[in-house]
Amino acid sequence: MPPEFIFFNHRVKKDFIVTIPDSLYQMFTVIGGPSSPILAKKISKKLGAKYIQSSLQVFPDGESKLTLDEQPKKGKIIVVQSTPPPVNSNLMRALSLVYTARLYSEQVIAVVPYLGYARQDMEFLKGEVVSSQLVANLFSAAGATKLITVDIHSKLALNYFTIPVENTTAKTKLALFLKKLDLKNPVVVSPDYFWSGHAQALASLLGTTHMALNKHRDRKTGKIYLASAAKLDLGKKDVILFDDMISTGGSMALAATYLKNQNCGKIYGACTHALLVGDARTRLKKAGVKKIISTNTVEPGLVDVSDVISQVV
Ligand code: R5P
Repeated sequence: MPPEFIFFNHRVKKDFIVTIPDSLYQMFTVIGGPSSPILAKKISKKLGAKYIQSSLQVFPDGESKLTLDEQPKKGKIIVVQSTPPPVNSNLMRALSLVYTARLYSEQVIAVVPYLGYARQDMEFLKGEVVSSQLVANLFSAAGATKLITVDIHSKLALNYFTIPVENTTAKTKLALFLKKLDLKNPVVVSPDYFWSGHAQALASLLGTTHMALNKHRDRKTGKIYLASAAKLDLGKKDVILFDDMISTGGSMALAATYLKNQNCGKIYGACTHALLVGDARTRLKKAGVKKIISTNTVEPGLVDVSDVISQVV
């Protein structure tokens, strides 16, 4: 017998009862946000879900106006919208789409592959706002019933959510891509200790070794430096610099500049989220990074993560 549901929509005045046939019971609709149309389409294909595109207009004052190209039908709705720069606009767009989706469904999964503000996960200096906590609250307030993200910067940021959260990883997909490159005896290097566990995991997927540099950031000035930079002999091994994200490229450029003086081979920069703000790409090239390998959590990206996301929907 088909299950009977009482749909209660908290922003539409009337309650109503619908009977969902078995064939539609598990039906998904994927809404593609303006920052993630390619990934959203791929996820909808993997799930056999209906795809609805959203259209974006930006007003002269910077406000976003979003319109769904079609009205969603019954079933779970998955909103796919990443938050790369412009972070605040993309965050507002993600929240707006979740809010609208909730008018049509009781189950709205927010897929935010790159979740901005995750680095602001605690009060590092007195008076700092813990913005990642606010972001978590905003997704609940907008109506998300679950959130999926990829390789979040800090697990601490996940603790602020009051809805179920899945933090999946792109490491297996990055490893598959890296294996196809002609790398000589590669070593995976994390620019700081913070991401070294992940560098170790990537190295193990590649069947190779890893090491971590000790980048530090002055919390007041934002300046980064290597706290120790001992002379090494990397014996011409290729290097895969691995981090969760590249923003300005400063961290990876600092690491590459140091490593190229330690008798290494070619240097590759791998990360899940390549924001590549400003001249980051040129900066990395100048520092000796031959190629940047990143995922479509920030489009376009070389490595597709639609399957790892689809698995946790
Ligand atoms: C910081 O701890 C992160 O893991 C990244 O290393 C950092 O956010 C990268 O930023 P940028 O490219 O500006 O150095």
